[in-house]
Amino acid sequence: MEHRRLGTTGIKISPIILGTMQMGWRIEEEESFKVMDKAIELGINCFDTADVYSYWADNSYQGKTETIIGKWLSDRGTRDDLILATKLRGAMSEDVNDRGLSRRHVHQASANSLKRLQTDWIDLYQIHSFDNDTPISETLHALNLLVDKGLVNYIGASNIHPWMLVESFWESEKNGYVKFETVQPPYSIVRRMLVEHQMFHVIKKYGLGVIPYSPLAGGFLTDRYSRDGPKPDTPRSEGAEKRYFTDKRWKIHETVKEIAVAKEVTMTQLAIAWILTKDFITAPIIGANSVEQLEENFGALEVKLDDDETKRLDEVSDWVADYESIR
Ligand SMILES: NC(=O)c1ccc[n+]([C@@H]2O[C@H](COP(=O)([O-])OP(=O)(O)OC[C@H]3O[C@@H](n4cnc5c(N)ncnc54)[C@H](OP(=O)(O)O)[C@@H]3O)[C@@H](O)[C@H]2O)c1
Repeated sequence: MEHRRLGTTGIKISPIILGTMQMGWRIEEEESFKVMDKAIELGINCFDTADVYSYWADNSYQGKTETIIGKWLSDRGTRDDLILATKLRGAMSEDVNDRGLSRRHVHQASANSLKRLQTDWIDLYQIHSFDNDTPISETLHALNLLVDKGLVNYIGASNIHPWMLVESFWESEKNGYVKFETVQPPYSIVRRMLVEHQMFHVIKKYGLGVIPYSPLAGGFLTDRYSRDGPKPDTPRSEGAEKRYFTDKRWKIHETVKEIAVAKEVTMTQLAIAWILTKDFITAPIIGANSVEQLEENFGALEVKLDDDETKRLDEVSDWVADYESIR
């Protein structure tokens, strides 16, 4: 497996990252352990999580996913083999200060994540999204302190506007703070513009590592969904309907399916293989509810798209003409 350099940092990660949002939501501890074991066996050396996962699930709470990962790390003793990424920003309780990106919360959230994850350090600490109530210089100062103390190795940003990233780079440079090394936006063949429009130029100029989430559009890019069929019985289908059930996206879905069938691969493998053709992507974060799904999705690394297939997929999912027509 060819490892990828994470942005301009000195670390290398596998070309696929294991997402963990499913753990504590779609699957419980036992299956989560199996998925993490399989990921390590396959050679995946980077896991992504967040402090808030997975509070929205029935009988769940903030910190549940990190707690599962922490137990697994302690049980398996694999911490040294793993690049562990987590995030902060979401509300961890009713307390108005137990959220956001204030200096206070950065210290509180990192201490709690370290405890739940049963580790002495976080490799990549990401802001989950921006916080309009906290100056970016305050957040960066707090994150810089964590790096100085050896509690965090690198910092990254998720769900952030390109101009905010650039502002953060200026603040980092001015004050001698560490800078965001990675971005974590949503990206898939049915959701390209967010990354490929203005963010793309920031990524290139600053050499950012790009580790996108929802490469299967939360499950939409699977054959469980079809234009005329019933929605699949999963808590994610309502979100998929709201975001992805448009004529353009069904056309993309149908093209992905057609090419996948012709190549005798699955839709998930084709959708992830298409992402891997983009040289500005470091590694997509995949979500899997079982060892079988993980193995299937990991199989994308074996799928090579020829020029015609790539052109068809690029064209059917192109956003430039749509954008120009309403600009
Ligand atoms: N930074 C952020 O704001 C943010 C947001 C979302 C996610 N993330 C991270 O990114 C990771 C991936 O995101 P995601 O879960 O949205 O990714 P995704 O790969 O787009 O969707 C995963 C979902 O697709 C379905 N699926 C996956 N493999 C399948 C297969 N082989 N066959 C059939 N269905 C399959 C499952 O849906 P069902 O559950 O319906 O079965 C699974 O929950 C998360 O685990 C998390 O770590 C970050």
